[in-house]
Amino acid sequence: MWSLDEAQARGVRPHAYRERETAVTSEAIDIRPPARSLSLPLRRTIRPLLRDPVNMLAGTAQRARGKVVRLNLGPFRPYLVSHPDHVQQVLRGDWENHPREGAFWKPVERLAGRSILTEGPDWESSRRILQPLFTSRYVASLTQDMAETIDEELTAWEAHARAGRWIDVCEELGRLVSRTVIRVLFGDKISVADAERLAPAYGIAATSFTSRLLMPFAPEWVPMPGDRAFKRAAEVIDDVVLPLVRQARRDPGDGNDIISALARARRDEDDPSAERRIRDDLVSIYGSSSETTAVALTWLWPLLHDHPEVAARLYDEVETVVGHGPVDPSCLPRLTYMKSVFQEMLRLYPPGWMIPRMARRAGLLGDVPIEPGATLLISPYVTHRLEEFWERPNEFDPERFAVDQRERRHRYAYFPFGGGPHLCLGQHLFYVEAPLIVAGILARFRPRVRAPRPLTPFPGASMRPKETVEVRLDPVAGGAGA
Ligand code: HEM
Repeated sequence: MWSLDEAQARGVRPHAYRERETAVTSEAIDIRPPARSLSLPLRRTIRPLLRDPVNMLAGTAQRARGKVVRLNLGPFRPYLVSHPDHVQQVLRGDWENHPREGAFWKPVERLAGRSILTEGPDWESSRRILQPLFTSRYVASLTQDMAETIDEELTAWEAHARAGRWIDVCEELGRLVSRTVIRVLFGDKISVADAERLAPAYGIAATSFTSRLLMPFAPEWVPMPGDRAFKRAAEVIDDVVLPLVRQARRDPGDGNDIISALARARRDEDDPSAERRIRDDLVSIYGSSSETTAVALTWLWPLLHDHPEVAARLYDEVETVVGHGPVDPSCLPRLTYMKSVFQEMLRLYPPGWMIPRMARRAGLLGDVPIEPGATLLISPYVTHRLEEFWERPNEFDPERFAVDQRERRHRYAYFPFGGGPHLCLGQHLFYVEAPLIVAGILARFRPRVRAPRPLTPFPGASMRPKETVEVRLDPVAGGAGA
């Protein structure tokens, strides 16, 4: 984005700059209510926004063909940024001018404090400590433990299969991933009883701020639905996490778990805020690693059910590569079709569906002037469905990610893990954990799915289906679950 000075240097006269600023609003695609209905604008846009906000934004961007769109939401008028060039500019090229600030980040900060999920020196210091922990080498060192934990958890799923029970797959996956994360990343420092409290509390906290996400203009002091649930959940989270942090600060040990690593890295910071900073990063990592993975894999089962040819190919691959026993981590590189299935699943249903930013200075995005303080909404869900960049964008087709297809794409036409300096730390972890889980399930069971269609994306901290997805696990002949 250009600053005003740069825009002038490029021949955009100040008054023309202002004219264009005015023009943007009238040129913006027509989602504004009629000008006469002055009392209606908010209600008119709020209703579709409340009903199905994610698809409302995707439809808006599609009609605008990737142009920057100004949304008129009454007191709040963010820009919807969907063109890959613009996404790249905001997340990478000019990222310092687009911090993670503004109303959308307040609920995150209420839950995760001044952590890796913020901006500025606090983010920098957390990223410096945490980044080395998430390299592919570090993740490889956790793989065996991860495989064993997942195998134990899936063995417990056999009781559901034997009883022919329909399970809420989002809930069950949430439990499985949470236990895996706690065991592997937190070095089993959280007791089973505390883990049982932490997972639901985090789930409540992460979904209870949806109304604040949808109405970010509402001031903090205005009570909103979900506020009380959020507060109670945050108290439970602190109740579990703070004693661990205190213990780790007294004796960080030499383990390679995140709690020990954070405590060691902040050993010399004896200011009272160090305890809070460790707590904030732990909560951030726990949330980023458990919610996202479980929610992502919830979308998989209806997709496989609706695409039997994809399911059959995936089952074949698992049968050939893994067989029916526990998953040996050395098999993972050979699950190539599964990787394409995951990539396509994350294209259609990226859990990190919204990546909001704030413009610090005035500038241009494409040919649209943006004023300082404006909110920019970037959404992988929206960009991943632009017809200009994806053929048959709403169709599930893992072949798009076959090796020979990858190079042809704009880097920012596909960004389920974000991009630029805030690029997700957990990509490697996801691509180890998710195949271990799915291969583990398919080596034992054939899932049947019960869920309404179409599923509506529900915009919490991670994008999950609004409807419950139920799965019944039929044992595979000759498998451990039979
Ligand atoms: C399907 C799984 C996942 C998806 C779709 C996902 C998506 C994202 C996205 C879009 C961002 C960028 C946020 C921004 O730019 O504001 C992000 C950042 C982040 N993710 Fe993930 N994530 C996933 C799994 C994980 C896992 C397993 C971890 C475990 C550590 C993790 C940790 C993080 C962290 C710490 C950040 C913040 C990085 C920073 O700002 O420096 N994520 N993730």
